[in-house]
Amino acid sequence: MCGIVGVLGRIEAAPRIVDSLKRLEYRGYDSAGVATLVDGALVRRRAEGKLRNLEAVLEITPLKGTSGIGHTRWATHGAPTVSNAHPHQAGSVAVVHNGIIENFLELREEIVEAGAVLETDTDTEVVAHLINLALLKGLSAQDAVAAVLPRLKGAFALAMLFAGEDDLLIGARKGSPLAIGHGEGEMFLGSDAIALSPFTDRITYLEEGDWAVITRSGARIFDRGNQPVERPEAKSAVTSNLMDKGNYKHFMAKEIHEQPEVLGHTLSRYFDYSTNQARVAGAEHLNFKNLSRLIVTACGTAYLAGLVSKYWFEKYARLPVDIDIASEFRYRETPVSGQDTALFISQSGETADTLASLRYCKEAGAAIGAIVNVPESTIAREADMVFPTIAGPEIGVASTKAFTCQLAVLAALALQAGRERGVLSAEKERELVAELTEVPSLALKALAAESDIVKLALPLSKADNALYLGRATSYPLALEGALKLKELSYIHAEGYAAGELKHGPIALIDENMPVFVIAPHDAIFEKTVSNMQEVAARGGRIVLITDARGASESGNAAENVVIMPEMSDIVAPIIYALPVQLIAYHTAVFMGTDVDQPRNLAKSVTVE
Ligand code: F6R
Repeated sequence: MCGIVGVLGRIEAAPRIVDSLKRLEYRGYDSAGVATLVDGALVRRRAEGKLRNLEAVLEITPLKGTSGIGHTRWATHGAPTVSNAHPHQAGSVAVVHNGIIENFLELREEIVEAGAVLETDTDTEVVAHLINLALLKGLSAQDAVAAVLPRLKGAFALAMLFAGEDDLLIGARKGSPLAIGHGEGEMFLGSDAIALSPFTDRITYLEEGDWAVITRSGARIFDRGNQPVERPEAKSAVTSNLMDKGNYKHFMAKEIHEQPEVLGHTLSRYFDYSTNQARVAGAEHLNFKNLSRLIVTACGTAYLAGLVSKYWFEKYARLPVDIDIASEFRYRETPVSGQDTALFISQSGETADTLASLRYCKEAGAAIGAIVNVPESTIAREADMVFPTIAGPEIGVASTKAFTCQLAVLAALALQAGRERGVLSAEKERELVAELTEVPSLALKALAAESDIVKLALPLSKADNALYLGRATSYPLALEGALKLKELSYIHAEGYAAGELKHGPIALIDENMPVFVIAPHDAIFEKTVSNMQEVAARGGRIVLITDARGASESGNAAENVVIMPEMSDIVAPIIYALPVQLIAYHTAVFMGTDVDQPRNLAKSVTVE
């Protein structure tokens, strides 16, 4: 995580760095800092908390200088204090860092023995000291970096600024992304195309192990063996506009309400409505016809989209799905071969564990598909085949519209797989696609339940715990409901398969336990209702999310009912995601938490 930026410009660097950091806050917002060169000397400003705190510091004590580096932090080593905020300085070098230096304790000892005084708890400071020690031995900045980089274990992107070197920035990438921006007589470094978007659309992505020596006239790039290499320049399509909330109080509210529209865009890319068929360009690379299983891997909410798709691929394509969270998948040494296809799901396209899992499967020769929302992301660039979600930028840290758009793409892939494997009849496919065309209008109708949901938020905001229950595709939604509530309101919540409740968690039920039951009126509705009755019998306070038929056939166990429109099975997990998102959103609003940037989180998780 963390966002980094570097500027070798012709006008004052600090305001430009702050502008770039504003776009990078999605990578972390624990603290932020800037260093520039003022008359050849390194000068820093740092602040705890959101970027606006750094802006306030810069307003009181502005920074001059046209060369600089900046950072927005998601704390890994050391609390989010001012002293742990980047840039870290040792002697004549300042460093900003994204990632983790895994051998920092060992390096720390060595540095202390060499007489350096460490001022922070961070792993990054160690890098600054190692480089400074090399500089003190008389090495040039370039040679010092070349000597230190091979000693750093872990994943990192680094940007370094040197006292007395007004026309020099050095960047290095191993594991974490880093890109060079080319301007007119100016050069830039940034975590991604978004960071560079205020400066330039001409971008060179560093590859794994690359490092670069940058001056205003250009960049020299070296590979991990210190050999000069050429990397292509690409034109970025990322807009430099800062996103705004429109008339909404939070980005999250805006993004929830955008879903009817963006789902429409995403579905129309993957379905041919003239024939009512799934038409997924590039699906032939996934080899659905001959697969004995499909591997699906992702993290967090994206993983839960994958979990929904397991039900779809198995039901509509008779294709077994091996699904795992990426942080487990990458280390469990699962056998993968050239006969396999692996699908990775990620809004940001930068999630470290998902990327590592992708690389694991790629190395084993599997065909790689990626469902991503950020088309220029690392996962998009490394996959054999990309299936973009057309959700538009998602700014709120909690994923909403990206999740439902991931579901839309996965539904298309599942139907495509069913047809290619000869198990989904043309008639059934037409029927399912016709149902999916209703998604945008059903999403609009689902949003109409918002006023009822607001009323649930106040009592929920007073609870210490909550449970979410669901069966089949509503089970991943139960997990998603609990995840959303936890991350936004900090209320402890758990999601369970409704049938699993009696195997332990039912012990938690008492009159203080709100229980959300997600139960469209489908073939297993009655089973879920039985589980709901078990909760009611133990005094649990039930909120049932169902349709009118479900409401009339559920008895009187539920204290509150949120009514969704009637819909078919394949559509339900996409639409039922909306009330689940709204419940968490309004509870957080009641509680006054930071909805768009909840504590301890970041939008793009580039560390493992
Ligand atoms: C929860 C949430 C996270 C992300 C997860 C994966 O609301 O947003 O759980 O889903 O960090 O991120 P991506 O999709 O960018 O790989």
